[in-house]
Amino acid sequence: MKSILDNRPMLAKEIGRVAEVAGYLWQKGWAERNGGNIVVNITDLVDDEIAAMPAISEVKPIGTTLPHLNGCYFYCKGTNKRMRDLARWPMENGSVIRILDDCASYVIIADEPVMPTSELPAHLSMHNYLLGKGSSYKASLHTHPIELIAMSHHKPFLKKDVLTNLLWSMIPETKAFCPRGLGIIPYALPGSIGLAEATIAELKDYDVTMWEKHGVTAVGEDIMDAFDQVDVLSKSAQIYINAKSMGFEPDGMSQEQMKEMTVAFNLPK
Ligand code: 13P
Ligand code: ZN
Repeated sequence: MKSILDNRPMLAKEIGRVAEVAGYLWQKGWAERNGGNIVVNITDLVDDEIAAMPAISEVKPIGTTLPHLNGCYFYCKGTNKRMRDLARWPMENGSVIRILDDCASYVIIADEPVMPTSELPAHLSMHNYLLGKGSSYKASLHTHPIELIAMSHHKPFLKKDVLTNLLWSMIPETKAFCPRGLGIIPYALPGSIGLAEATIAELKDYDVTMWEKHGVTAVGEDIMDAFDQVDVLSKSAQIYINAKSMGFEPDGMSQEQMKEMTVAFNLPK
């Protein structure tokens, strides 16, 4: 079967990275059934031939208007598709969409009319925000990491930057590789515009956000970068939980040690 990836090594490499990360999500136990989604802005990799490709779906509303996305192209995981399947067959479990001139609707252009993820409003809102501020970030991820979600069931952890500081203090690398920390978003209906709006409000200060009792989102230069940030936070969560299950409250790095890290690694906060 013909694919948009044929004879396009750059695009194939990008989608290959998405497939690789989808495999990691499954291996980590963060992707039960169809859990989680990935959207990547591939506009820079679009050639004249792709730009001329006809729609293979009807026009579909995004549910919100996103002015910075006019004429953009995205690879999106399909709704109800499994990460473990996407890891092997990315173009059968996801599709490429084109945002139309009204900035409020899209069509699918390749390879098959696989309906994009139900979290499309949140993902596209994040990309709209990133483009609006001139960011070079191209990828957004939503996933269901067990330990981080468990922590979001505890009210005291949901106060601003409580989890950020706790997770940063478990192992030095977490602050170095997730330097903006973890924003908290109160529970909202999956796939809703309310959830999308709350998510972009937090992106101002954070690259990774926690959707209370549901999962996390992350944005990054590419999908590997987004994944890595969740991975280091998740590692810290596991260290915390391991210490607690051994029967003690972990000391965490001291404020002084954290400060030393911040200066040595030239971190923003
Ligand atoms: P989709 O299958 O629609 O991508 O939904 C998965 C999910 O995690 C919703 O929050
Ligand atoms: Zn989810």
